[in-house]
Amino acid sequence: MQLLEGKVGFVTGAGHGQGRTHAVRMAQEGANLILCDICAPIPQTQAPMATYEELEETARLVEAAGGQVVFGIADVRDRAAVQAIVDKGLAKFGSVDVVSANAGIWKPTPFLDIEDDEYDAIVDTSMRGAWNTCKAVVPSMIANGRGGSIVITSSAAGIRGQAPWAHYAAAKHAVVGLMRSLANELAKYSIRVNTVHPTGVATFMGMQPVVAEMVEKEPLFLMGAANMLPIDVIQPEDVSNAVVWLMSDQAQWVTGVALPVDAGNTNKP
Ligand SMILES: NC(=O)c1ccc[n+]([C@@H]2O[C@H](COP(=O)([O-])OP(=O)(O)OC[C@H]3O[C@@H](n4cnc5c(N)ncnc54)[C@H](O)[C@@H]3O)[C@@H](O)[C@H]2O)c1
Repeated sequence: MQLLEGKVGFVTGAGHGQGRTHAVRMAQEGANLILCDICAPIPQTQAPMATYEELEETARLVEAAGGQVVFGIADVRDRAAVQAIVDKGLAKFGSVDVVSANAGIWKPTPFLDIEDDEYDAIVDTSMRGAWNTCKAVVPSMIANGRGGSIVITSSAAGIRGQAPWAHYAAAKHAVVGLMRSLANELAKYSIRVNTVHPTGVATFMGMQPVVAEMVEKEPLFLMGAANMLPIDVIQPEDVSNAVVWLMSDQAQWVTGVALPVDAGNTNKP
């Protein structure tokens, strides 16, 4: 029995990085998928956003893993756009059961230098993005009456303060409040809501040149030193395994949990 057999999943930020590995892993476990990505640059971050071709490649990989797929462009900051892709998926598959609110952007900037437009872009993508994702999926999940699981991607920066990215850490803490509140409010519908908190991950976000520059300038930033277990950065598939478990019935009584996938990062002395 596959972990997500018969389920329909929705993944935001699925063009590359963790969103892609979550989608592929979910398909390997029997899910059909609805995928979206912004597929356009966001000027307030240095990491490259996915292209439409990369989103198509994720869709191809999902199909190769045995899943059917509906995909399209949607900026998670745009509620109507997120609703439109979810509705397209609902029209094809009839339900959304398991959800990865994964899209996020990050930029290291000292607090005093953060301009309003950068604050808006970082906070809106993580916080409003998770909000819009939940708004788009929860009504049909309740109407279907078969419960479900929502996993919001936070960060080690959603458990403890980090520098210099106060806007990112604030937004990643905020989604924990959203998660805990929805876990309470939606439990009566058997809809579970949890967050995952990765340490540095080997994706475009985690491996962009600015990270290497910071390591050079500030040895304390060294990710190897930041983790308790002997690993510099973890792989996106490591996070996907936790996400899929939280989505699966193996975690049927797990809700309201902030799960670190952080090689001990947030528990180090
Ligand atoms: N990489 C890390 O070190 C790390 C660590 C902890 C948490 N995270 C979190 O993990 C999640 C995934 O990040 P990643 O490591 O895969 O980064 P990534 O930059 O490789 O991928 C992010 C994906 O999200 C998409 N995206 C960004 N903004 C979007 C928007 N407004 N609407 C729709 N799609 C959008 C991008 O196009 C891209 O495909 C993010 O929430 C991030 O904050 C990452």
